[in-house]
Amino acid sequence: MVNHKTKLRKVVIIGTGLVGTSYAYALLNQGVVNELVLIDINKDRADGEVRDLNHGMAFGNPMSIKTGDYEECHNADLVVITAGIPQKPGETRLDLVSKNAKVFEGIIRKIMDVDFQGIFLVASNPVDILTHLTREISGLPKERVIGSGTILDTARFRYLLGEHFRIDTRNIHGYIIGEHGDSELPVWSHVQIGGIPLSQYAGIDDFYKHKDMQQIFENVRDAAYHIIERKGATYYGIGLGLVRLTKAILNNENAILTISAHLDGQYGLHDVYIGVPALLNENGVREVLELDLTEMELSQLHKSAAILQEMIDTGMK
Ligand code: 2OP
Repeated sequence: MVNHKTKLRKVVIIGTGLVGTSYAYALLNQGVVNELVLIDINKDRADGEVRDLNHGMAFGNPMSIKTGDYEECHNADLVVITAGIPQKPGETRLDLVSKNAKVFEGIIRKIMDVDFQGIFLVASNPVDILTHLTREISGLPKERVIGSGTILDTARFRYLLGEHFRIDTRNIHGYIIGEHGDSELPVWSHVQIGGIPLSQYAGIDDFYKHKDMQQIFENVRDAAYHIIERKGATYYGIGLGLVRLTKAILNNENAILTISAHLDGQYGLHDVYIGVPALLNENGVREVLELDLTEMELSQLHKSAAILQEMIDTGMK
């Protein structure tokens, strides 16, 4: 048994842009790790971020924060990749694929060169495809390569439903699954409020014909576009989502979260990374949960997987 009280927890962040540093800032606030290493192609930038974060140490949780090189990944528990080119206004996540696939190849090879044996958590977009690529290049077992998937979309969904019904978002249970992107879908059939199915709680027969529910889903799906139009990038939400995933893994929580996980027959899908609820612990993915989807939900999930598969087959070349 691993003693979680004494075991040192080391996380390396690759990429100190807005997402990487928001994640680092949230880690400092929440005290999840002992050692945090920031790596960026721009060494000065990483160094500046480390200095700034360390100056908050007296007000945060004691931990070591430093810059380093890829050698630091050797004994890391978790390597979180946030590097890559972000979306510009009007660009889809899938538009980024070839640029970021190139960035990733170099990064993953450097990490594997130092014999990394921990867990990869990918956050850069298109996240499902870059997670697939990370597994392919690293050769690590599928359980130890995951992507942030639809963790943020699910959080956005729960938040907006909570606002609509004036209920604490933590008491709203539901999932967004599929691509973290335009083809994602809400699993309306499994949304619950305090254990009561949403259809029953709100007296809704058909979520697809219900204007408010449709609007909520569209606001979830298009949330990143709305934010990017207004402030250029999204980072606080995903930063906190990455901390949630970090805790689930390092604290051996066996928590169920929607991540980009490798499917091996679940939902009738094979060899694809896509957003689904999965059980996470210190070994990575213990299990992918297979929801009993309606025919329409299952067909939407298959369409979403087909878009990702097509990208993998053609988009990265
Ligand atoms: C987000 O959903 C852009 O993928 C990023 O906020």
